Amino acid sequence: MSNRPSHIAIIMDGNGRWAEAQGRNRSHGHEQGAEIVRTITSYCSNHPEIDQLSLYAFSTENWKRPKLEVEFLMKLLEKYLKSERSTYLNNNVRFEPIGDLSIFSKSLRKVIDDLQNATHDCNGLVQNLALNYGARDEIVRAVNNLLPHTPITVEQLNNALDCKHNIDLLIRTGGDHRLSNFLLWQSAYAELFFTDTLWPDFTTKELETIIKKFRTVERRFGGLN
Ligand code: IPE
Ligand code: IPE
Ligand code: MG
Repeated sequence: MSNRPSHIAIIMDGNGRWAEAQGRNRSHGHEQGAEIVRTITSYCSNHPEIDQLSLYAFSTENWKRPKLEVEFLMKLLEKYLKSERSTYLNNNVRFEPIGDLSIFSKSLRKVIDDLQNATHDCNGLVQNLALNYGARDEIVRAVNNLLPHTPITVEQLNNALDCKHNIDLLIRTGGDHRLSNFLLWQSAYAELFFTDTLWPDFTTKELETIIKKFRTVERRFGGLN
């Protein structure tokens, strides 16, 4: 029996380098990256075996970047979430932000809320978009929400997280082999795939190739097959 790619997570890395390689500024890479988000989400929404797609869009550490880049990313995010509403609806995709949203401006939070409400009844793919997301922050927030109820079980902690679903296949583009604080708990038994392809160059064809390899992996979960 081949593995089912029910939950795919992607660390979408390499936007800046992609733009710089063309002598353009990093913002151009982020714009192109947003196009690929649309393409990959739409592909996954039409794939009968993919239920969840988790995408790393902005980490709790990304605030360290130059102010201008952060501002550009916030504007791009707002623009994307507004302009893509019909794409979400047409593809029956439910939008689920994960991360600590309290830090965002009121106007951005409204756009996030609006899209979440608008897609609430979509019952196809769930797109978990990680915004001001860090796995350690997610776990600490979950634990604090469970206090003073102790001791807690694995199941209780899991259910207090922003994202409650085990990852089957985790992909990182951009050539680095690290998780950068993305979905650490949910990746406990994920199959990890790293590609040198920069995110703006990532294609559905490459995703298909990765899924094909993923299907043949022997997943043992600590047992013996
Ligand atoms: C990923 O691309 C997008 C975000 C982190 C927002 P980068 O911006 O990290 O691009 P590189 O890794 O510098 O090329
Ligand atoms: C991870 O990429 C975060 C996102 C893709 C949103 P980074 O570019 O921030 O990761 P590091 O700094 O190389 O680990
Ligand atoms: Mg990067």
